[in-house]
Amino acid sequence: MSKKEKPPKTTKEKETPAKKPPAKKPTARKAVAKEEKKEPEDWIHEILPKQRPKTAQKETKDLSDVAVNNIPGIGPAVADKLMSSGYITLAAVAHASPIELVEHCEIGEQTAKRLITAARGQVGIGFQNARELLKTRKKLVKISTGSKSLDTLLAGGIEASSLTEISGEFRTGKTQICFQLCVMTAMDKKLGGLESGVIYIDTEGTFRPERIVQICQRFGADPEQVLSRINVGRAYNSDHQMVLVLESPKIIKDGNVQLMIIDSLTSHFRAEYAGRGSLLERQQKLNKYLHQLLRLAEVYDIAVVATNQVLTKPDVLYGETTFPVGGNIVAHSCTTRVFLRKGKAEKRIARVIDSPHIPEIETVFRITADGIVDVSETT
Ligand code: GTP
Ligand code: MG
Repeated sequence: MSKKEKPPKTTKEKETPAKKPPAKKPTARKAVAKEEKKEPEDWIHEILPKQRPKTAQKETKDLSDVAVNNIPGIGPAVADKLMSSGYITLAAVAHASPIELVEHCEIGEQTAKRLITAARGQVGIGFQNARELLKTRKKLVKISTGSKSLDTLLAGGIEASSLTEISGEFRTGKTQICFQLCVMTAMDKKLGGLESGVIYIDTEGTFRPERIVQICQRFGADPEQVLSRINVGRAYNSDHQMVLVLESPKIIKDGNVQLMIIDSLTSHFRAEYAGRGSLLERQQKLNKYLHQLLRLAEVYDIAVVATNQVLTKPDVLYGETTFPVGGNIVAHSCTTRVFLRKGKAEKRIARVIDSPHIPEIETVFRITADGIVDVSETT
């Protein structure tokens, strides 16, 4: 759920801490203190009653900025643990699972369950009217790729609140598109940018600030300012890659981040878990990582773009022989998937291979010194 989709909290909800049916009504703080002593029979039933009256809401309210210490009954020590583990907003806790909070924040399971219940009571997790959803979707931020034809292919650009995969062979322009997206997000609004921050997780050591400076010149953007809005994390292995994602919520909030890039999603996983014997373990870890990315996109309403390598299956007799790495797990997790292939000289062909709202169509763009441009554009 994007932040624009989150329903408002009523006055009653603001004042009412998480309830524990049926008779006793301890505050969440007391509940936290006694956590290990008392097991709720089924914690999910504590949440459900709060979901029911949410269907007829008229307007949604942005609750993604509400700090985690506003969860009713949360103590300062637990709030510190959550914040230092990257759960800095109420929405982040509301979207978490108990197991995950236990693992990442070193808190007890009952504490985790109660905090999630209390946070969900505030954020309101339930049904939303589809008419409202359409209005919310129309307001979603789209980040331009620098090429009008590529933007048209993507129904306006790279969409916030979702995970977009860009795959293709080497030299097809995956990293160049990432550089372009950095500039489009970070440059000033008067130049067509979003004046927002970027998190760039570089797993291959291919981030080049010089290219950002070059692309800035095309728009007359101040390269110093644009570079200062890009936060680069060089990930040296898959564990490091995952830790960087856990650390990113603080930067997302402080740096007004609208775009997160992972270039590339799978290179470390592929190298570290080589061979059939470790395939299951790799896929499980990758699955966990993809879910972290998806949740970041939804909780903080940012666009997450992950590049992906491809593998060739020579034994395929008909149709495609080149596939993005990661199999079904990556395929199911990404909201929109774009596949790139080489054309003549600077030309590259982009095809949407999976999307909930875009047909399977293709377009052509060019990679130039100025970044990603239309074929018709002279630079
Ligand atoms: P891998 O990371 O190896 O999988 O490839 P990739 O898809 O990320 O490739 P990348 O985005 O780095 O694109 C490389 C292509 O961009 C090459 O064909 C380069 O020639 C081209 N390229 C990079 N910089 C420039 C430039 O300044 N000017 C022009 N015209 N092309 C450039
Ligand atoms: Mg690359």
